[in-house]
Parts: sequence; structure tokens; C-alpha cells
Amino acid sequence: MSQIPDTQARSCLAVVLAAGESTRMKSSVSKVLHPVAGRPMIAHVMEALAGADIEAAALVVGRDADAVAAAARRADLPVSTHLQTQRLGTGHAVLAAREAIAKGYDDVIVVFGDTPLITAGPLKAARARLAAGDDVVVIGFRTERPTGYGRLIIENDALLAIREEKDASEAERAITYCNGGLMAINGRRALAFLDAIGNDNAKGEYYLTDVVEVARAAGGKTIAIEAPETELMGCNNRAELAAIEAAWQARRRHALMISGVSMIAPETVFLSYDTELEQDVLVEPNVVFGPGVTVERDAVIHAFSHLEGAHVAAGANVGPFARLRPGAHLGPNAKVGNFCEIKKSDIGAGAKVSHLTYIGDAVIGPEANIGAGTVTCNYDGVNKHVTRIGAKAFIGSNASLVAPVTIGDGALIASGSVITDDVPDDAAAFGRARQANKPGHAKVLRERYLAEKAARKPKA
Ligand code: UD1
Ligand code: MG
Repeated sequence: MSQIPDTQARSCLAVVLAAGESTRMKSSVSKVLHPVAGRPMIAHVMEALAGADIEAAALVVGRDADAVAAAARRADLPVSTHLQTQRLGTGHAVLAAREAIAKGYDDVIVVFGDTPLITAGPLKAARARLAAGDDVVVIGFRTERPTGYGRLIIENDALLAIREEKDASEAERAITYCNGGLMAINGRRALAFLDAIGNDNAKGEYYLTDVVEVARAAGGKTIAIEAPETELMGCNNRAELAAIEAAWQARRRHALMISGVSMIAPETVFLSYDTELEQDVLVEPNVVFGPGVTVERDAVIHAFSHLEGAHVAAGANVGPFARLRPGAHLGPNAKVGNFCEIKKSDIGAGAKVSHLTYIGDAVIGPEANIGAGTVTCNYDGVNKHVTRIGAKAFIGSNASLVAPVTIGDGALIASGSVITDDVPDDAAAFGRARQANKPGHAKVLRERYLAEKAARKPKA
């Protein structure tokens, strides 16, 4: 009976390479800091590692070392950092983590910081092959666009070598089975293999990929396992970054739809790494979710809305054309309609903010009704102040609520008011000039203006 090798029983170190110059990105920051789905690429890689039953990660850093280390840090995985002082290639980079590798792990997996779509699955599969007795397991993928990737040279199921594009013959370049850049190495032999890598190639670099031929020469078993292209796309330039973003978005949208979220035009919806949408949420076309958004059941996010750092409770309605900024919390069945902006405010259950309104630093009670054009004047140029609006209060259209100010439960604010004083429960407040009608005066004015205009005309 064949046994499934138990990767959990084996110790494992992950070496994460993130020290490259990112030359092809043409950027003032390291490419692994560029965001995919709203968080740095390197953080996606670390998440995959956290799911692959490993003990520790050794992060190899170069430019922007502190920022890269900060972006890679996680609570559930110890991460040591190792500086690669000279950029001499991926093989050289792994050896910057010599100290960590030398601690002696059963498995060493090497992952690249510029391969953010990877998930734990292929990493575990590669580890299972080590447990079964292979020495180097390369995670490969098949693609119609192999340009730029190392090609896998396979014979009788064994991986003979990885040929970098610059060193490949024409026949080798025609190979479409490529190196994803991730591999698992027998931890007991890893340092011996890595130390034997030379730099006799087109770029004069120490290529990690040469570990395959080195291991074979030492009698090791080397193989490739295949993973989907959508997990192994690498990011070397901005066009690849956009392709990776698109692949990430497609994958997460699909997962959300399968979990019970409706999207009318999914390809127009943009999610963040942490967007949570519960079952029976409906998302209309052209909606953008920035980081930190949770939406509960049966809520509807109408077209062209932009949400960030916001919580939308069950049955609430947002948009079309609404903007929820950080700290916007909508209660159950609340409504925020078109051209409304909500910032750091609680909107009570069933409350309605339907049109053309700014609500900032406010607490709005249940079932309050906020009329069109209402503005909470929360900022005095120096400090922010809070507006409190009670349950079932009614704010007439075009009111300015100058914070700090409290409007009681059931209170009514007359349209066009500028409210600077607190309003007690059930009181009606009129904060505007009294209207005066002057009978016939419009006609008097009109005739005067016409006469003035005629007097200005040049004489013939
Ligand atoms: C590499 C592989 C290639 C594979 C591709 C997959 C090598 C020699 N080539 O090429 O076979 O198909 O990835 O995406 O391994 N880095 C360092 N220090 C260095 C050089 C690189 O830390 O001195 C890091 C980079 O930050 C990056 C990773 O290693 O995260 C890969 O380097 P990169 O230059 O992108 O290699 P590719 O040309 O993409
Ligand atoms: Mg790369």
C-alpha cells in the first residue's frame, strides 16, 4: 500500500528572495513592494507560505530592506531577514540565508518575492515529493508566452536542467514548460548543492536554476511538478504587474461568486486582498473595493460605488455612485444613495442618506432621514468635530450641521438651516433667514434691468 508522505512531520524552512534591483520595473521602490489587490506582492507570497506548514521563513533583502521586511512580517510565521549585499543572482541570493539553512531542516523551499499568485497547494505538493525521496523539486508551468522564463529540460520524467532564456538554444526556447522560480530542495543536502553553483553563463550570475544540474552530478534525484500558470506568473515589469493583478482579481471574484455572491459584470468589479462579501450580497457593475471592506448578507452595492475601510451590515443599500471612506459603518438596512460621501461615521439601522450628502465624523441614529445636500461641517481648519443625530430625526434638505453639534431623537431641522446649537429631542429647528415677499417687486426690477440694457446699446 502506498503511503501519502506526511509533510507536517517534516521540518521546513522557506527562503524568500526579495533582494533584486527590480531594474525592469523602472521604479523608485523594490518591485516586491508594488501592490497586488491592495497589498505588497511580498505579503501575498508570505500568506501562501503560512499555509504550507513551514516553521520559519528566511527573507533575503537588498534594496528597501526595511520596508520589504516590514511588508513580509506576519504574526503566524517567524521571519528572519538576511542582507544580500551584492546582487549576483538568485543562486547567490539563497546563500545569503546560509545561517538559516545551516540550522538543518528536512525541507528547504525557495520562493520568489515576485511570484505573488502562488498558493500553498503547489508548495505542499513539492514538499510531498521531497518526503518521497526526490532531492530537487521544481514547480513548473506550461504557457503560451514562455518569453523571459527559464525552460525545463525533461527526459524520461526526470528534470535534467533549467535553461535561462539568454543561454538557451533555439530548440530549447521552443519549449513551453517553464520554471515558475519556486523549488523544494532536500534540506540536508541544500548547502552542498548551492555552494557548487558557478556563474559561467550569459549574465555572469549565480543562477539558482543550476542547482538541478549540480544535484544530478552529485547523484541527486531532480524532477519538475506542474502547477497552473495562474499561480506562477512572475512580475518583472509593469505590464506583468497588471497581468498578475487581473489574474488575482479573476480568481478572487470567481471564489466569491462560488461562495454565493452575485456579480452582474464581474470583470468590472475590483476587490482587495481582504474584501469580505457574505452570501447573497449583490454587486452591480463598476464597483471598487479598497482594503478593509466587509459586506454582510443581502446588502446591495449599486453601480459605480467606491468603498474603503467600510462595514456594510445586512440588507443595506449603497449607491449608485456612493463613496464609503474609512470608518464608514452602515447598520442593517441603512441606505446611502447617489453622490453621498461617508467618512468615519455610524449610520444607524434603517437610516437613510439618499442624495448628494457629506457625512463625516458623525453618529446617526436608527431610522433617521438625512435630506439631500446635507453637510456635516466637521472640520474647523484645525480639528475634526463630531455630529450626533438622534433616532428618527429628520434633517431637511441642504442643511449645514456645524460640529460639534447634537440633534436629538425625533428632532426636525428645517431645509437650508445652518445649525450651530444643539437641538433637543422632538424639537424643530429653523436656522435660516425668514422669507420676505415683496408684491410686484420682481416686475419693477425686470423693467429697470431691461431699460439699463437698452441704454448700454451703441447708437446707430
Ligand atoms: C527567474 C528564474 C527563471 C524563472 C523566473 C520565474 C533564475 C536564474 N531564473 O528569472 O528561471 O523562470 O524567475 O519568474 O533563477 N533576486 C535576489 N537577488 C538577486 C537576484 C534576484 O534576491 O541577486 C530575487 C528577485 O528580487 C526576485 C527573484 O529573486 O524576487 C527572481 O529574480 P528575477 O531577476 O526576477 O529572475 P527572473 O529573471 O524572473
Ligand atoms: Mg522574476
